[in-house]
Amino acid sequence: MSAIVIGASSGLGRALAGELAAQKHDLLLVASDPRDLEALAADLNLRHDVAVRTLALDLGREPDPGAAILAALDGLSAPDALLLPIGMSRDDDELSLDPAAIGQLLAINLHAPLAIAHALLPRLLESRGSVVLFGSIAAVRGRGRNVVYASAKRGLVSFYESLRQRYRPEELRVQLYQLGFLATNLTHGMRLPTAPAEPAVIARAVVKRLRGKSSLRYLPEKFELIALIVRMLPWFLYRRMKG
Ligand SMILES: NC(=O)c1ccc[n+]([C@@H]2O[C@H](COP(=O)([O-])OP(=O)(O)OC[C@H]3O[C@@H](n4cnc5c(N)ncnc54)[C@H](OP(=O)(O)O)[C@@H]3O)[C@@H](O)[C@H]2O)c1
Repeated sequence: MSAIVIGASSGLGRALAGELAAQKHDLLLVASDPRDLEALAADLNLRHDVAVRTLALDLGREPDPGAAILAALDGLSAPDALLLPIGMSRDDDELSLDPAAIGQLLAINLHAPLAIAHALLPRLLESRGSVVLFGSIAAVRGRGRNVVYASAKRGLVSFYESLRQRYRPEELRVQLYQLGFLATNLTHGMRLPTAPAEPAVIARAVVKRLRGKSSLRYLPEKFELIALIVRMLPWFLYRRMKG
């Protein structure tokens, strides 16, 4: 049993790696910083006695990340879960970014999950495995902030639907978590409307459901109601909302 975690070096990805190792999954951990990854791998190997591989890739620039990941899997037990808690956002993503910055945000938040999942699908189908995608409450309704980030996250919802439409539940589990605020680098220093959730709590819930049914869920769960209210607000009121 092995799992691949993309964006494993911090925040939710790091918490997922810890939870998966505790459940005796061998791991391939991917992120951009090799030192963070190696330190995490050594720690998980020592504490849980599982095989942990690492692969440092800048997914903002990598045209074919799937090929590198497939090569890094050589010799590891067959992967039965691909988790993609990768993400990057910018404070200035307010309809003012230059094309290079737009490309980087799309590469990290949309191209990387799509390209990696496409490359690993044959392996995951062989093992009747799981693909786990992570969206955001920021993408529930378009607004003047987080413009490119939210577009990419909305794209993941379409990808989730495509995978579910194409494969039967017994061939592939597809899970999408629409996340509210978490206490991670992504929200560090931000003034948030509600207290952020601890990544370890979210990771526990995700790993517990890993072999469960395909589904789209909100975590923390209260964000399902918040998303519903945001979607139902009349346009003339929604337009006037700040932030
Ligand atoms: N935090 C929140 O409030 C929140 C809310 C809604 C949705 N989400 C989503 O939840 C998921 C987890 O987010 P998080 O808060 O845990 O974020 P985080 O702490 O910033 O972690 C992001 C991970 O992505 C990796 N990453 C970023 N850019 C990369 C690049 N160019 N190449 C390779 N790896 C890269 C980082 O590794 P390196 O540092 O090594 O690059 C890190 O491991 C993301 O999909 C995020 O969009 C988060």
